[in-house]
Amino acid sequence: MFEQIERVPGDAILGLIEAFKKDTNPQKVDLGVGVYRDSQGNTPIMRAVKEAEARLLKNETTKTYIGSHGAPAYGNVVLPMVLGENSPVLDAGRASATQSPGGTGALRLAADFIATQLPGKDIWVSDPTWPNHLGIFPAAGIKLHKYPYVDADNRLDFDGMLSALKQIPEGDVVLLHACCHNPTGFDLSQDQWKQVLEVVRERNLLPLVDFAYQGFGEGLDEDAYGVRLLAESLDEMIITSSCSKNFGIYCERTGCLIMVAKDNEQMENVRSQIAIVARENYSNPPAHGGSIVSEILSSDDLIPVWRDELTEMRDRINTLRRDFVEALKPYGLDQKYACIAEQRGMFSYTGLTPEQVDRLRDEFGIYMVRSGRANVAGFSHENLPYLAKAFAAVNS
Ligand SMILES: Cc1ncc(COP(=O)(O)O)c(C=O)c1O
Repeated sequence: MFEQIERVPGDAILGLIEAFKKDTNPQKVDLGVGVYRDSQGNTPIMRAVKEAEARLLKNETTKTYIGSHGAPAYGNVVLPMVLGENSPVLDAGRASATQSPGGTGALRLAADFIATQLPGKDIWVSDPTWPNHLGIFPAAGIKLHKYPYVDADNRLDFDGMLSALKQIPEGDVVLLHACCHNPTGFDLSQDQWKQVLEVVRERNLLPLVDFAYQGFGEGLDEDAYGVRLLAESLDEMIITSSCSKNFGIYCERTGCLIMVAKDNEQMENVRSQIAIVARENYSNPPAHGGSIVSEILSSDDLIPVWRDELTEMRDRINTLRRDFVEALKPYGLDQKYACIAEQRGMFSYTGLTPEQVDRLRDEFGIYMVRSGRANVAGFSHENLPYLAKAFAAVNS
């Protein structure tokens, strides 16, 4: 039977990683990969995580299953991190947390819930969006459509977005990025979130907010502005949270599906369905990453260590964004690429064309995906002058 199976090309990013490894240019720069890098180009384990793991190793007494919703201790720390310490949504018992294998697992749970419990609802995603969104929802049998997000001049197309949202059939699901939009880095202002809320209300849409980068944009609470606004203003929404980036525990697969319902009764009904969806996918989530997060967020001595490290990562990215645009000044390109300083998170839609991306790779050993998305964490103060020179060369 397998003789009929066709091979599909591998992930473009994986191809990029291979090509980067083989490149012998000593000045080569990897701007393709989707993880945080420090100034040495490493993705280190955070100190708070190491310490939490040491404590877990010493104190853990069992490896038994943790249940389809995951460890209650994990939900108890993630809910206030996402919705706020004094959230009225939490006070009302309207939110349910289900630990998931990464933010991706939470998205798949959401997709299966929508497909099985809200049949006939389509989903609308930004154009562009994280490519996995394009796979996850159709894989669950949900029709996917796009709304505009970036204009031809590589700016946030908020007017285009809003007018498209106004056309969405009532009751459909709209996927929004909470912060650090992947792949563009263009985030909504507080005022824009308010306008989105109004349209969501008018059209009776179900927002699904993907929150994969909490703390990477402006701060843990600042980045949650849109999520909290919608949760506190609407009866129902879905949030998919990830601890992969903000705890640097990518491989531990640690995420959370948060379902917000009108009241506690409806939340429990929804929650019971989510348990079935989780069971049918993978039964129970992996425990270790969630244990790390709950150990840190329930230890008075580890919280500040983790917060400081997260701030360090965020500041590094935001400083490099500004300094790169400065480095482009002598070439007269600072205005053209000013958006890089304004965008947030690890990714930037640079506005480079696929041909310019190819030239950067072939002539300078600078690797990024052909959409022109760069991982800003691949910048460093050592390589900024080289990057600026290369940008200038492909712009001449
Ligand atoms: C927008 C977005 N959502 C979700 C995820 C999922 O993250 P993970 O499954 O690694 O927790 C990512 C990771 O790159 C992302 O960029």
